[in-house]
Parts: sequence; structure tokens; C-alpha cells
Amino acid sequence: MAFWNRRRSIDVMTAPHDGPRLKPTLSWPHLLALGVGAIVGTGILTLIGVGAGLAGPAVLISFGLAGLVCACAALAYAELSTMMPAAGSAYTYSYAVLGEMIAWVVGWSLILEYSLVVSAVAVGWSGYAVGFLSGLGVDLPAALVAGPHAGGIINLPAVAIIGVVTGLLLLGTKESATLNAVLVVIKIAALVVFVAIALPAFKTENFTPFMPNGFGAPFVQTGVMAAAAIIFFAFYGFDAISTAAEETKKPERDLAIGIVGSMLVCTALYLVVAAAAIGARPVADFADSPEPLALILRQMGQGTAAQWIAAAAVIALPTVLLAFLFGQSRIFLGMARDGLLPRRLAKVSARGVPAVVTVFTAVVVAILAGLLPLDELASLANAGTLAAFCSVGVCLVVLRIREPNRKRVFKAPLWPLVGAISVIGCIVFFLSLKPVTQVGFVVWNLIGVAIYLLWSSKNSRLAKGEEEAA
Ligand code: ALA
Repeated sequence: MAFWNRRRSIDVMTAPHDGPRLKPTLSWPHLLALGVGAIVGTGILTLIGVGAGLAGPAVLISFGLAGLVCACAALAYAELSTMMPAAGSAYTYSYAVLGEMIAWVVGWSLILEYSLVVSAVAVGWSGYAVGFLSGLGVDLPAALVAGPHAGGIINLPAVAIIGVVTGLLLLGTKESATLNAVLVVIKIAALVVFVAIALPAFKTENFTPFMPNGFGAPFVQTGVMAAAAIIFFAFYGFDAISTAAEETKKPERDLAIGIVGSMLVCTALYLVVAAAAIGARPVADFADSPEPLALILRQMGQGTAAQWIAAAAVIALPTVLLAFLFGQSRIFLGMARDGLLPRRLAKVSARGVPAVVTVFTAVVVAILAGLLPLDELASLANAGTLAAFCSVGVCLVVLRIREPNRKRVFKAPLWPLVGAISVIGCIVFFLSLKPVTQVGFVVWNLIGVAIYLLWSSKNSRLAKGEEEAA
């Protein structure tokens, strides 16, 4: 069968098979914690300033738009992941619905997303950690806390935190997920404390002019849309839950609760935090800060609270790293198991962890984190995510039309609208990213397609007839 027509059968994919399997040890509280742990991170803690700089107080609208697109994508994910609870996320769904070649592009984009999120968040963590230590009187050498772009040699704290999180993952999923739940509570508490202190200082005049840079449009790099394309970073992470499908005890119930629940919690939290931040200080005061929330508190004379927020970020940001490094290894696992990447990568260790993939990924993302700046890493991560979310929207719609009677444990409401918003929203956000990011994304995928055509298309299980196609 020609590679562009090759699709995996949903029935075959969800049936038990002989390949390496992961142990089902997780239930919905773990998944909800994994979701919130992956979502709340550098986006709300750091990129809120970048977004406010681009849109002014109207960054609230950017939060709303990014949240809307992500909520629709989350609903599509919930429907698809409960139909196909196999590790691999958007890549797996695309393989069953849109065919092998598109699945490859989606998988390759997910690798970009997951890797660069880990790198970006590690750099964000490093910024907070260095500031926090400095507050305690411990100053690390400048050359070892920034990459060459900022006049340093390497961002060593970013590399170190990736090493620590990799160690946690190698200890096994269950242990990591439980620790993750504790850290999530710390992170949410920090944001609640911020709101409690900032809200009493709310000034409505800080909201005028509300939209100083206009609404924006595709190819315009300022305004509400450009901010939404960056703020988008703050919202994703719930997709990492779907990569844990295979390790979930009752996927049909637990995944839907985990995905939709974590999305709702975070959207509500972000809108309140953003409104409190803008109400407390004029946008210009914190737009360029690498630690906007802590800065706002310091400007309000709340130095101790600022140091607490920084400490919470340092302790809790690793949950984001944990979730994405976890997700990344599962994407690799899925692709390797399908024969699109070398199969020895799919080997699962005695502790049920795909150790080779996890360590390989960690080394690559640590090098990137050590050398590259945060904003470049974050926007390229967004590009990869947008491609994946777009494909999930398309999969939702195509499968509803192609197989309307297939059993759906979780049904996305208003599916045509949900599908349309996911797809159109992702395309518009992609077009609102910087040209250099768009080009970088295209180059990454051209390399991917070359690998696919030269190697993967000939070695996949479907190509070799090892699995029955749809
Ligand atoms: N949503 C995650 C964050 O903001 C990627 O760090």
C-alpha cells in the first residue's frame, strides 16, 4: 500500500499485543495533577510579561483566545484519547485517522514541542533559581548561568535541573507522578498568594489604554493576536496526559476528567492572575521582566512574598519538565514501536520506563537549554504544538464523519464548532508567530519528511506487513 494511504486500524491499535507494554498504575487524580503540573509553568510565571508587552492590558483577551483554542483542542483530545488509549497522543490519532505520513509530521512536530518546552522551562527555572540564590547572597559566575546569546558560556543550572528530573523519571512513573502532585499544590498556592496580595492594590486606571498595539492580525508581530500566539505556551500541557493513556487504570473515565478538568482549572486561574497583575502595576513596569510576578510584589513593597514566589517557582517548575520529558519519551516509544524510529528505542526497563529514550531525550534538551535563549525556544515549541493541536481538530472531525457509530466513551460537545475553532485558531496563531520561528518549524519538518521518505516509510510495521492496516 502506498505510504500516504497507510492507516493504522483503531481496533488493532487498542487490542492487547505482544510488544513492550507500560504498566497501568495511574488514575484520575494522578492525571489531573500531571495536567496541572504540565500546564502551570513558565507561561504564567514569565511569558505573561512578554504577552503584556505585546498587547498591553488587552493581554487578558489574548489569554481568553489562547484558552478558547486550547479548550477546544482539549475536548478533541479527550474524545480521541479515550477512543485510542495508546501511548503517542496526537501522533497516534493521526496515524489512525489521517495516515502514516501526516502522523509522522505530527510526531516529528511533537518531538519539537516536547523537547523545546523542556529546554525553555529549564531556562526559565534557571532564571528564578539564580535570582533566588542571589537574594540569599549566593552569586553564581555569570559565564555559567547564561548561554552564548547573553554573553555567557553555558546555562549550567538549566542543564542540572534536566538531569535531576530525568533521574526522577527513571525511578518509575508512579513515584514521579505522586511527587508531582505535591509540587503542583505548591505551585497553585504561590499563584493564589500572588492574587491575594496583588488584588487589594487593584487600580482600574492601569487598564487604559486597554489595547495600545491594536488587535493585530496574521503576519503582524504585535497586538492581541501576537500576544495570544506566545501566551498559548502557558496553556498547553494537558496533551501530556493523553500520552499516559496506556498507563491509566480506567482510561475511558480518567483521561476525560484529567484533560478537561486541568484545562478548566488553569484557564480560570490565569485570568485571575493576569487581571490581578495588571490591576496592581502598569504593564510597562513588568513587561520585560524575567520574573514578572515576583517583580510586581517587590514593587508593592512585598519583598518577602516575592522571595516566596521565587522559591515556589524553583521548587515547582520541575513538574512541567517532568510532564513533558515523560510525554516526549512516550511519543518516541509510540513511533519506535510502530517502526518509524529504530525499534531498540522502544525497550522498556525493569521499572517500566523507556530508559534509552528518556536518557537520549534528556541529553539533547539539556544541550539546547544550556545554549539557547528562552523566547526562541518557547515560540518554536509553540509552532510544534500548534501543528499537533491542528491535526487533533482535523482528526476529531474526520473520524466523526467517517465513523459516526464508533463507540465514544467521551463525546466532545458541538464537535463541528470545536473542530473548527481548534484548526482555524491554530493556523491563525501560527501565522502570528515570528517569521524566524515559522521558517525554523518548516526546516525542522523538511528534515523530518526526508528521514521519513528515506527510512521510516520503508521500516514501519505497516510497510513490512507486521500489522494489519485499516
Ligand atoms: N504550559 C507550560 C508552561 O507554561 C508549558 O510552562
